[in-house]
Parts: sequence; structure tokens; C-alpha cells
Amino acid sequence: MNGLEIRGKSVLITGGCGGIGLGVAAEFANRGLSVLLADRDISGAAALCSANPNVRCIEVDLGNFSAIDAVLKPLLTGNDAPDILVNGVGISPKYSPTGERWTAWTMPLDHWQDVLRVDLDSIFYTSSLILPKMIERHAGRIINIASLVSRTSGGGVAPIHYVTAKTAVLGLTRVTAQEAGRYGITVNAVSPGRIDTPMIRDVPDKVNQSIARNIPLQRLGTPKDVAGAIVFLASELADYLTGVVIDINGGMYMA
Ligand SMILES: NC(=O)c1ccc[n+]([C@@H]2O[C@H](COP(=O)([O-])OP(=O)(O)OC[C@H]3O[C@@H](n4cnc5c(N)ncnc54)[C@H](O)[C@@H]3O)[C@@H](O)[C@H]2O)c1
Repeated sequence: MNGLEIRGKSVLITGGCGGIGLGVAAEFANRGLSVLLADRDISGAAALCSANPNVRCIEVDLGNFSAIDAVLKPLLTGNDAPDILVNGVGISPKYSPTGERWTAWTMPLDHWQDVLRVDLDSIFYTSSLILPKMIERHAGRIINIASLVSRTSGGGVAPIHYVTAKTAVLGLTRVTAQEAGRYGITVNAVSPGRIDTPMIRDVPDKVNQSIARNIPLQRLGTPKDVAGAIVFLASELADYLTGVVIDINGGMYMA
């Protein structure tokens, strides 16, 4: 995809210093884009930033809307606002402090709200901040990272707050695509399956390996696998795609 024309010169990736975010950042940076990573923990991006002057980080808690206002709002609303927004932030805490799996009837309200705020509300908020500038430019790409769980309800493994948030991301994507289309903006989602990042290392490696054996393509996904679909959605090849979801799961889910 090296000869691809990307529809923009700059990209902001939220949750950008995690496993998938760094993979996406590297693909955009390799294509000459200016990349800004917004994350509450920027330590994971040190190597990428020092190797690539086009990549910068900004530290912000995306579950805190005053912090977004203070740190990100000026960047999203000013003349240098990024051309492409990748909403990649996400958390998926599965266990109570005593090690039990949360259920719909045991999950405390504050845990529910914490996950909805980071995994869903932040996407709504960052998108709402950047859209007026995209509308003014009559151009822009928003790519939201959902999850396979939004198709499968989590298979009894993923917790209710995460599944709810990721399912709602698909609705948010479609409505934003519907409303923003007339302004030349596309809004799409990717839905990763089991991707080898810190997020899935809350279970022993043998559990992940056993999951991998049952995937038709016989392996876990990589951040590069997800990045490929995101770069595609940001490119000229996807000019006529909006409101779609691309599943990236090695065949774990086929509809
Ligand atoms: N890894 C998978 O198997 C998988 C599958 C489906 C979907 N996803 C989604 O992909 C996205 C990226 O996940 P990942 O696998 O790279 O996980 P990750 O844990 O490696 O990265 C998540 C990043 O989000 C950041 N973050 C978390 N809460 C934050 C907050 N309040 N403010 C700012 N930053 C915050 C973390 O610091 C981390 O850098 C998430 O939305 C996740 O739900 C991952």
C-alpha cells in the first residue's frame, strides 16, 4: 500500500501509545504523515518517537472531559486540527478486586461509568470537537476502533460495560457518517478480533495460544493487521466508504 494516497497530512490517534495505536502510528508515519498520539501513559511510544520526528505524544486522560478541554480541544478545533482522527482508546477491565468476573448484576455503577466514559463518551466528544473544522474544510476521515464483541456479545468472556460501549460505537459511527457525509467526511469503524497487545495479556499465554488454534487463520492478529485496514479507510481507495465496519479477526467471526 506504499503508493496509496492518504486523504490528509496529519492524524491524531487516541489511545495511541498502546499496542494497536503504535502499530497504526508507524504505518501513517512511514507514509509521511504527521502523527499525534494522545494517551494517559505515553511511555510506550518513546522508541517510535525517537526513531521518527513525525510522531509526537500528548499526555491526557481521555476519561476526564476537563482534561480533554484543556489539552486536546485547542488542537482539535484550531487551524492545525488533524485531517484524520483515529479513536482507538479503550479499556476492558474484566475482574473485580477479588478476582471475580463481573456480571450484569455484580458490576458496580462506577466501574460501568468508567468504561463507558473512556470507550464510548470520549469517542463522541473528540469527534464532536473536530467535526466543525472538518465540515469547514469539507474533508476529513474519522475511524473508530470497535471490537469483535460488538458482533458476538462477548461470548461470555467480555464484560457488559465493554460490550455495551463497543456495540454503541457502531451506532455512533453510523449516525456520524450519516450526518457528516454531505460535508465530504467519511466515518467508519474497524472491529478487531483477538489482537496480540497488552490488552489480551490479562490471561495466561496458553489461553491465547489455544484461542489462536481455533481461529481459521490459525494465529492471533497483530497491530499491523489492524493498521492496514485503518490506513485503507484513510486512503483514496475508501473514498466511497462511509458508515461501514471492517472486521479484522482471521475468520473468528463470519457473517
Ligand atoms: N487487543 C485486542 O484484542 C482488541 C480487540 C478488539 C478491540 N480492541 C480495541 O483496540 C483499541 C486499542 O487496544 P489495544 O489492544 O492497543 O490495547 P492497549 O491496552 O495496548 O492500548 C490501549 C491504550 O489506551 C490507553 N488508555 C486507556 N485508558 C485511557 C484514558 N483514560 N486516557 C487516555 N489513554 C487511555 C492506554 O494507556 C493504552 O496505551 C481499544 O479500543 C480496544 O478496545 C482491542
